[in-house]
Amino acid sequence: MKLQNLLLLIPLVISGQALAAEKARWYSDEQVAQGKELFRQNCAVCHGQNAEATPNWKQTDANGNYPPPPLNGSAHTWHHDLDLLRRTIREGGKKLGGVMPGFEDKLDAAQIDSIIAFFQSKWPDEIYQRWSGRFETSDLPSLNDIVVASKRPITKLLRQRIGNAQIDDISETSVEDVWQVQIGNRYVYLLDDGKYALMGDLIDLEDGRNLTELSRRVATVETLSGFDDADLVVFAARGESRATLNVFTDTSCPYCQKLHNEIEKLQEAGITVRYFPYARGGSRGPGYQHLKSVWCAEDRNQAMTDAKNERYDGLPPGDCDAASMIDRGYLAGNKIGISGTPALLKSNGEKIEGYRPYQELIPQVLQ
Ligand code: HEC
Repeated sequence: MKLQNLLLLIPLVISGQALAAEKARWYSDEQVAQGKELFRQNCAVCHGQNAEATPNWKQTDANGNYPPPPLNGSAHTWHHDLDLLRRTIREGGKKLGGVMPGFEDKLDAAQIDSIIAFFQSKWPDEIYQRWSGRFETSDLPSLNDIVVASKRPITKLLRQRIGNAQIDDISETSVEDVWQVQIGNRYVYLLDDGKYALMGDLIDLEDGRNLTELSRRVATVETLSGFDDADLVVFAARGESRATLNVFTDTSCPYCQKLHNEIEKLQEAGITVRYFPYARGGSRGPGYQHLKSVWCAEDRNQAMTDAKNERYDGLPPGDCDAASMIDRGYLAGNKIGISGTPALLKSNGEKIEGYRPYQELIPQVLQ
């Protein structure tokens, strides 16, 4: 597909302009001092005494894992906003297929902030300014960043091609001088200082990992994490929960109904199913009103089961506040790029296409 054609599919959004005003550092000297101690106790063993390890952080080890990257500003830690840094430290990297442990149980929020203050104190001013400027107006990098980063204004060509389409993320890849640009749920690679754009998945042939797919999963996990259980209809695992399956569903879709008829098998296998609403065809779709009713019901689980069995009589009108979730779910599904219902997503963002019988599905989810 031509880039121009692809971009026609992307809704036009005016992107925010990041202004590069000089910013003072957000932390105090006391925080840096406290963070230094905590960093040396908890992090230095992997990331180095001064957050300098590992210089060749783009090279995977024999098991296909990335080594701990430097946090001193020389790697891409500055691509992440404060919240993402906090979350990485709290939760570690396992969720996204990495190996860093989480520190949720060891460090409180103030301690985590002081650790961030410590390693940010190692960042050169130029990097710090770039970081603070980039997250000032939005969480997303502006095109100016990539122009600065590659020092070749030729990257502006991309902007000319895509018009007002929103660039969601720009990051360096493990391939020298190749940049990955995320536009909605599509990924484009810039080559030759941005003179060329290549569309397709980037595969690491040494370990067979699909690096584009990993980016897609990160974006999916981020989108899903914007929702609480209270926003959803949750069928909890019986006994200990061994895995979570996120399902975009429409009450009117036959395979969603089929999957729902087997939901007890999943629950018994220790799988918690989190239903997101996804009305095929949007607000004119056949399931739109029924989904609203389900979300407005006092017992959403019962209402979901009723609607999936086409028993609509007992459903309440779909005019409560919670019904707004039907539109939010639709937008989230589109952002993730689901192509139909049911769309099944594991907690690491991995997609399972379409319905499959529970005997096949359960081992895939628990894997
Ligand atoms: C056992 C080794 C280990 C320890 C201990 C560890 N890390 Fe990590 N860290 C990693 C690895 C490996 C990665 C790369 C991502 C992954 O595989 O999880 C990483 C990634 C990160 C990232 C993301 C960097 C980026 O540019 O995306 C941050 C931030 C980070 N670590 C901070 C910390 C802090 C702060 C501590 C101490 C509280 C810490 N780490 C302790 C191994 C470790």
